[in-house]
Parts: sequence; structure tokens; C-alpha cells
Amino acid sequence: MKRTMHAAFRQDYGGPEVLRVLELPVPELKAGQVLIKVMATTVNRTDCAVLTGKPAIMRLFTGLRRPSNPVTGTDFAGIIERSDAPGFSAGQKVFGFLDTGIPTHAEFVALDTSNVLQMPDVPFEVAAAACEAGHYAYNFTKAAKPRSGQTALVNGAGGGIGSAMLQFLKHAGLTVTAVCRGDQVEKIQGLGADSVINYESEDFTKDSRTYDFVFDAVGKSRFCLCRKIMKAKAMYLSSEPGPYGENLWLPLLTRFSAQRVLFPFPADIPGSLAFLKGLLNERKFKPLIDRTYTLDQVAEAFRYTASGQKTGNVVIALNRSFT
Ligand SMILES: NC(=O)c1ccc[n+]([C@@H]2O[C@H](COP(=O)([O-])OP(=O)(O)OC[C@H]3O[C@@H](n4cnc5c(N)ncnc54)[C@H](OP(=O)(O)O)[C@@H]3O)[C@@H](O)[C@H]2O)c1
Repeated sequence: MKRTMHAAFRQDYGGPEVLRVLELPVPELKAGQVLIKVMATTVNRTDCAVLTGKPAIMRLFTGLRRPSNPVTGTDFAGIIERSDAPGFSAGQKVFGFLDTGIPTHAEFVALDTSNVLQMPDVPFEVAAAACEAGHYAYNFTKAAKPRSGQTALVNGAGGGIGSAMLQFLKHAGLTVTAVCRGDQVEKIQGLGADSVINYESEDFTKDSRTYDFVFDAVGKSRFCLCRKIMKAKAMYLSSEPGPYGENLWLPLLTRFSAQRVLFPFPADIPGSLAFLKGLLNERKFKPLIDRTYTLDQVAEAFRYTASGQKTGNVVIALNRSFT
């Protein structure tokens, strides 16, 4: 009798309404793979792109007309149940991420181990919440090459990427000003921000201080608006292409200017996982968790994440007896 599991399933691209939690066979273990009992995963902004197939460029990786992975997901933390991969064995705790989608919104997943790493010594929810936003935040900060003693402003410090970026910049020895929503101020101060601007009552582009770096983690501002709070020699980085895709061509235009724009294309997921594992084990990175859902509530989790209002990360806890 084939073992079954619960998983978030969809046949077509669309909003959360296309998702169903179905009972499916537990995946087969193929050569070189590990079979993982998923204990925690997240619903993040990249998951929203995998679900909707938007932006369209995503479909080059997820399937042009229909999703190649009917089960959604991009990250996980869990326990290896069976292994056919060297260096990995049953009982080991692991975590991992793939920005083009892996079927981890499910109780079990079988994966090759290219983006799987032994888990740091933290709870499953924390390891899962570290992956997606941590990967992008690490790539953005790494590209900027910040040095201890420099100053940075992070716009959208209340979001997944922004709250991770703030901590990585503090870890690198920078003085950081964080921009977030009023009700997030205390949490963001708790992550080590040197000063906090509540964007509901203050326009951060009118700040009297100037910065070596402006990181627009939510991609809601523009280089032209931030230049007056940037030092004569400074860098602006955004997580979004911006109006008319300006953050894609401004890097070229400002390549030899004192005030430059960078738009890094995140890469090297194993490198990011290793970096995140190190900081988590040293307790130097605390992924913010906004709320935790069960797998049955996956559509609701997608609706909340897609609203763009989450504070940090949205987790799904699995394989837990809630009785
Ligand atoms: N370039 C890439 O490779 C890449 C990869 C992944 C994600 N992204 C993009 O990066 C952006 C951030 O991702 P994320 O996961 O960090 O998003 P997120 O967690 O969903 O960010 C939402 C947070 O940002 C805050 N926010 C929204 N508008 C703001 C503003 N104008 N000023 C300050 N805070 C504001 C929201 O607060 P409110 O509720 O107050 O609005 C909320 O707390 C998204 O647009 C995402 O699509 C880019």
C-alpha cells in the first residue's frame, strides 16, 4: 500500500484560489536524492511568483504554459527519512532553498542535495524562515561590499529581505538607519537598528544625514529621490527593477560615477545557506517570524504574503500534532 501525505497542489498558474491541499503519494526516492520529512517551510514573495507565474520571466524556470511542479514551495527545514546521497543520512536535520521552486509545501519531499545543507542548531521554523529573504539579503549586501564604520539606510526594514539585511549590515559593523511602518518600530529596534524612521509619519528622503549605502529592500523608492541622502561617493541598491526598469540600466550609466546604482542578480544558493547557517549558529541572525500557519491554511498564507504587509516571514509548520 503506497504511503500518502498532504501537499499544496495546483495544476495551473493563478492566485491562492487555484491551490488545494490534497492527499498524494509520498515521493519516490531516486538515485542521489534524500527523502525529507518537512517540519517547516515558508510562504514568501518568491513563492507568490512561482504560484502566479508572474513576472513572466519566472515561467522560463517554472514551466511556460503550466507549472512543471504542481506542488508549491521554495524552502524547507526537516528531517531526512531516507538517503541515497553521500554525506547525508537518515535522522539528520537539513534545510534548503531553490528560488525556481521545489515541492516543499508538503509533508515529504525528495530532493537532490545541491541546495540542501545540514541545519544549524535552531528550531525548524527559524531555519526555514532564514532561507529566502536571507539569500537575497546576503546577495545584496555582498554585492555592495560594505565595510565596518560605514553607514547605511535600509528602506523596508520590516520586510523579509529588509529585516535580514539590517542584521547582516550590523554584523559587518555598519551604523544602520531602518525605515519601517509604525507598528514595526519596536521589533526593528530589537534587531539592532541604530535609528528607525517610521515611513507613515516621516519621509526618509528628507533625512538630514547622508549614507554610504541606501538599500531599498522593498523597491518602493528611486535613486533620483535618494541621491540627496547619499554621500558624494555612495551606492544605491534596490530589490525591484523600478519605474521603466531603471534599476536595470542605471548600473551601466553610473558605473564610473561617484554615486552608483547596483542591481545584483542573486546567485550561489549553497554559499548563502552556508553563510546563514554560520550566523544562525552564532545567534547573530534572528529571522523575524510574523505568523505561523498549518498546511491546511496555505491559501490564506499566500493571500497574506501577497498583500505585501508581512513583518519578516510567514511560516507553515508541518508534521506536528496540534492536539
Ligand atoms: N530582486 C530580486 O531578486 C528579488 C527577490 C525576491 C524578492 N524581491 C522583491 O523584493 C521586495 C521585498 O521582498 P520581501 O520579501 O522583503 O517583501 P515583504 O516581506 O513582503 O515586504 C513587506 C514589508 O515591506 C513594508 N513596506 C511596504 N512598502 C513600504 C515602504 N514604502 N516603505 C517601507 N516599508 C514598506 C511592508 O510594510 P507595509 O505593510 O507598511 O506596506 C511590509 O512590512 C518585494 O517587492 C519582492 O518582490 C526581489
